[in-house]
Amino acid sequence: MAKSFLLPDAAATLAFGKQLGECLETYSVLLLKGDLGAGKTTLTQGIGQGLGITEAIASPTFTLVNEYHVGRIPLYHLDLYRLEPEQVDSIYPETYWEGIECEPGITVIEWSERMLFLPESYFEITLSHTEDDQRQAIITATNADLTEIFQ
Ligand SMILES: Nc1ncnc2c1ncn2[C@@H]1O[C@H](COP(=O)(O)OP(=O)(O)OP(=O)(O)O)[C@@H](O)[C@H]1O
Ligand SMILES: [Mg+2]
Repeated sequence: MAKSFLLPDAAATLAFGKQLGECLETYSVLLLKGDLGAGKTTLTQGIGQGLGITEAIASPTFTLVNEYHVGRIPLYHLDLYRLEPEQVDSIYPETYWEGIECEPGITVIEWSERMLFLPESYFEITLSHTEDDQRQAIITATNADLTEIFQ
Protein backbone atom coordinates (compact mmCIF):
# COMPACT_ATOMS: atom_id res chain seq x y z
CA MET A 1 0.00 0.00 0.00
CA ALA A 2 1.31 3.46 -0.89
CA LYS A 3 0.40 6.76 0.72
CA SER A 4 0.80 10.05 -1.08
CA PHE A 5 1.19 13.48 0.49
CA LEU A 6 1.41 16.95 -1.01
CA LEU A 7 4.04 19.05 0.78
CA PRO A 8 3.38 22.70 -0.12
CA ASP A 9 6.58 24.13 1.39
CA ALA A 10 9.75 23.20 3.27
CA ALA A 11 7.93 23.55 6.60
CA ALA A 12 5.51 20.84 5.48
CA THR A 13 8.43 18.56 4.57
CA LEU A 14 9.93 19.16 8.02
CA ALA A 15 6.60 18.44 9.72
CA PHE A 16 6.17 15.23 7.72
CA GLY A 17 9.65 14.11 8.79
CA LYS A 18 9.00 15.10 12.39
CA GLN A 19 5.92 12.88 12.49
CA LEU A 20 8.05 9.98 11.24
CA GLY A 21 10.81 10.70 13.75
CA GLU A 22 8.33 10.65 16.61
CA CYS A 23 6.93 7.21 15.83
CA LEU A 24 9.52 5.17 13.92
CA GLU A 25 11.00 2.28 15.81
CA THR A 26 14.58 1.13 16.26
CA TYR A 27 15.91 -0.76 13.21
CA SER A 28 13.68 1.21 10.79
CA VAL A 29 15.32 1.92 7.43
CA LEU A 30 14.10 4.76 5.22
CA LEU A 31 15.19 4.74 1.60
CA LEU A 32 14.84 8.26 0.21
CA LYS A 33 14.58 8.77 -3.55
CA GLY A 34 14.15 11.83 -5.71
CA ASP A 35 16.00 14.33 -7.88
CA LEU A 36 18.49 16.95 -6.74
CA GLY A 37 16.72 19.35 -4.41
CA ALA A 38 13.64 17.16 -3.98
CA GLY A 39 13.72 17.61 -0.20
CA LYS A 40 15.52 14.49 1.09
CA THR A 41 17.79 16.35 3.51
CA THR A 42 14.91 18.56 4.68
CA LEU A 43 12.86 15.45 5.42
CA THR A 44 15.79 13.99 7.37
CA GLN A 45 16.08 17.23 9.36
CA GLY A 46 12.41 16.78 10.30
CA ILE A 47 13.07 13.19 11.34
CA GLY A 48 15.88 14.52 13.53
CA GLN A 49 13.47 16.99 15.14
CA GLY A 50 11.01 14.19 15.81
CA LEU A 51 13.76 12.14 17.45
CA GLY A 52 14.69 15.09 19.64
CA ILE A 53 18.07 15.74 18.03
CA THR A 54 19.09 19.27 18.88
CA GLU A 55 22.26 19.55 16.79
CA ALA A 56 22.02 20.72 13.16
CA ILE A 57 21.58 17.98 10.58
CA ALA A 58 23.67 18.76 7.51
CA SER A 59 23.81 16.86 4.26
CA PRO A 60 26.44 14.09 4.44
CA THR A 61 27.20 14.42 0.72
CA PHE A 62 30.97 14.43 1.36
CA THR A 63 31.21 12.57 4.67
CA LEU A 64 28.80 9.88 3.31
CA VAL A 65 27.52 9.07 6.82
CA ASN A 66 26.61 11.28 9.79
CA GLU A 67 25.71 9.78 13.14
CA TYR A 68 23.57 11.39 15.85
CA HIS A 69 23.41 9.86 19.29
CA VAL A 70 21.58 12.51 21.27
CA GLY A 71 17.95 11.76 20.38
CA ARG A 72 15.36 9.19 21.46
CA ILE A 73 17.24 6.59 19.40
CA PRO A 74 20.35 6.98 17.22
CA LEU A 75 20.03 8.35 13.68
CA TYR A 76 22.37 7.23 10.89
CA HIS A 77 22.10 9.56 7.90
CA LEU A 78 23.72 8.29 4.70
CA ASP A 79 24.02 10.08 1.35
CA LEU A 80 25.11 7.90 -1.58
CA TYR A 81 25.09 10.66 -4.22
CA ARG A 82 28.83 10.56 -4.79
CA LEU A 83 29.05 6.77 -5.04
CA GLU A 84 28.58 4.48 -8.01
CA PRO A 85 26.30 1.53 -7.22
CA GLU A 86 29.26 -0.87 -7.09
CA GLN A 87 30.99 1.39 -4.53
CA VAL A 88 28.09 1.46 -2.08
CA ASP A 89 29.18 -1.82 -0.46
CA SER A 90 32.48 -0.19 0.53
CA ILE A 91 30.77 1.89 3.22
CA TYR A 92 28.98 -1.19 4.63
CA PRO A 93 25.48 0.32 4.85
CA GLU A 94 24.17 -2.85 6.51
CA THR A 95 26.32 -2.06 9.56
CA TYR A 96 23.83 0.69 10.40
CA TRP A 97 20.56 -1.13 9.93
CA GLU A 98 21.74 -4.42 11.43
CA GLY A 99 22.86 -2.58 14.54
CA ILE A 100 25.47 -5.21 15.33
CA GLU A 101 28.64 -3.12 15.29
CA CYS A 102 26.84 0.07 16.20
CA GLU A 103 23.98 0.94 18.51
CA PRO A 104 20.65 0.06 16.84
CA GLY A 105 18.85 3.10 15.50
CA ILE A 106 17.07 4.55 12.47
CA THR A 107 18.90 4.54 9.14
CA VAL A 108 17.96 7.17 6.56
CA ILE A 109 19.58 6.86 3.12
CA GLU A 110 19.54 9.66 0.53
CA TRP A 111 20.06 8.59 -3.09
CA SER A 112 19.10 5.02 -2.22
CA GLU A 113 18.65 4.49 -5.98
CA ARG A 114 22.40 3.70 -5.86
CA MET A 115 21.94 0.60 -3.69
CA LEU A 116 22.36 -2.82 -5.24
CA PHE A 117 21.34 -4.69 -2.08
CA LEU A 118 18.39 -3.66 0.08
CA PRO A 119 17.53 -4.51 3.67
CA GLU A 120 14.87 -7.10 4.30
CA SER A 121 12.29 -4.53 5.35
CA TYR A 122 12.22 -0.79 4.77
CA PHE A 123 10.18 2.30 4.07
CA GLU A 124 10.65 3.92 0.69
CA ILE A 125 9.89 7.60 0.25
CA THR A 126 10.01 9.13 -3.20
CA LEU A 127 9.98 12.92 -3.33
CA SER A 128 9.27 14.82 -6.52
CA HIS A 129 8.86 18.45 -7.61
CA THR A 130 5.38 19.52 -8.66
CA GLU A 131 4.90 22.10 -11.44
CA ASP A 132 4.46 24.89 -8.88
CA ASP A 133 7.60 24.00 -6.85
CA GLN A 134 5.77 22.13 -4.15
CA ARG A 135 6.73 18.53 -3.42
CA GLN A 136 4.90 15.25 -3.56
CA ALA A 137 5.91 12.41 -1.26
CA ILE A 138 4.95 8.81 -1.94
CA ILE A 139 5.67 6.39 0.86
CA THR A 140 5.54 2.61 0.79
CA ALA A 141 6.56 0.04 3.37
CA THR A 142 7.62 -3.57 2.94
CA ASN A 143 6.11 -4.80 6.19
CA ALA A 144 4.74 -1.97 8.29
CA ASP A 145 1.18 -0.73 8.50
CA LEU A 146 1.25 2.87 7.24
CA THR A 147 -2.26 3.52 8.51
CA GLU A 148 -0.89 3.16 12.04
CA ILE A 149 1.70 5.85 11.36
CA PHE A 150 -0.48 8.23 9.34
CA GLN A 151 -4.03 8.28 10.69
N1 LIG B 1 7.78 20.82 0.19
C1 LIG B 1 8.66 21.72 -0.27
N2 LIG B 1 8.26 22.73 -1.07
C2 LIG B 1 9.17 23.62 -1.54
N3 LIG B 1 10.49 23.62 -1.25
C3 LIG B 1 10.93 22.64 -0.46
C4 LIG B 1 10.06 21.65 0.06
N4 LIG B 1 10.79 20.78 0.81
C5 LIG B 1 12.07 21.20 0.75
N5 LIG B 1 12.17 22.33 -0.01
C6 LIG B 1 13.38 23.10 -0.34
O1 LIG B 1 14.06 22.44 -1.42
C7 LIG B 1 15.45 22.73 -1.34
C8 LIG B 1 16.26 21.47 -1.47
O2 LIG B 1 15.98 20.66 -0.36
P1 LIG B 1 16.96 19.50 0.13
O3 LIG B 1 18.35 19.99 0.27
O4 LIG B 1 16.29 18.89 1.32
O5 LIG B 1 16.89 18.50 -1.11
P2 LIG B 1 17.71 17.14 -1.33
O6 LIG B 1 16.74 16.20 -1.96
O7 LIG B 1 18.35 16.70 -0.09
O8 LIG B 1 18.81 17.57 -2.38
P3 LIG B 1 20.14 16.77 -2.81
O9 LIG B 1 19.70 15.85 -3.90
O10 LIG B 1 21.04 17.84 -3.31
O11 LIG B 1 20.66 16.05 -1.62
C9 LIG B 1 15.66 23.46 -0.01
O12 LIG B 1 15.79 24.84 -0.28
C10 LIG B 1 14.40 23.16 0.77
O13 LIG B 1 14.07 24.20 1.69
MG1 LIG C 1 20.34 16.09 0.32
